[in-house]
Amino acid sequence: MGSKLSDRGKRHDTFYKRARQEGFVARSVFKLEEIDRRSHLFRKGARVLDLGCRPGSWLQYAAKAAGPQAQLVGVDRTPLDFAIPNCRVIVGDIYDLSPSQLVGPLGAFDVVLSDMAPDTSGVRSADQARSEALFERALYIAEQTLEAGGHFVGKLFQGPDFQKMVKRAQENFAEVRTVKPESSRKESIEQFVVALGRRARPAI
Ligand SMILES: C[S@@+](CC[C@H](N)C(=O)[O-])C[C@H]1O[C@@H](n2cnc3c(N)ncnc32)[C@H](O)[C@@H]1O
Repeated sequence: MGSKLSDRGKRHDTFYKRARQEGFVARSVFKLEEIDRRSHLFRKGARVLDLGCRPGSWLQYAAKAAGPQAQLVGVDRTPLDFAIPNCRVIVGDIYDLSPSQLVGPLGAFDVVLSDMAPDTSGVRSADQARSEALFERALYIAEQTLEAGGHFVGKLFQGPDFQKMVKRAQENFAEVRTVKPESSRKESIEQFVVALGRRARPAI
């Protein structure tokens, strides 16, 4: 068991070191990289909304993937420590911000991302419920702001309502997959719901 734990530690240290070497501020970038490798989320010049964006590695990745014409919006309760090209950062709570405030002059988004997680309490059922609430809010924002054909990626803790949330996503997207990326800690109950091809135009 000791050696198993130390193997796991080494693997995660590797992701951390790789992130630093490649200039990303967090190892969580590799979760988005893997999802993008499998699902091709970003076209050049894409308009991207990142909910829960601090410290900023997903925005760094989106800026590279969507190129110099990218138009990025990041939201977090805490500001970023550095600037990202073509990115407007909104400091606030996603429960207090309306979809139209997030879209602003862009009109709609091509990709909506959410890596938001609750501050964990250690009480599994309570943490799952708060993760589901964050996921549902992110999905609602995506449904309100995505262009037809747009994509949504949302983090969701596995819990009793996991399949219900997946079904919710299936209502408005052509294809929905669930992904547990290689760089996600094995002991973590996080999964990512990847919803591709928004069916209708945004409501706003
Ligand atoms: C795991 S971190 C995101 C990491 C980011 N994807 C990256 O790679 O740099 C989750 C973030 O979600 C934010 N968050 C959680 N609940 C939020 C809420 N209600 N409104 C806005 N941000 C929230 C937290 O402040 C935290 O910075």
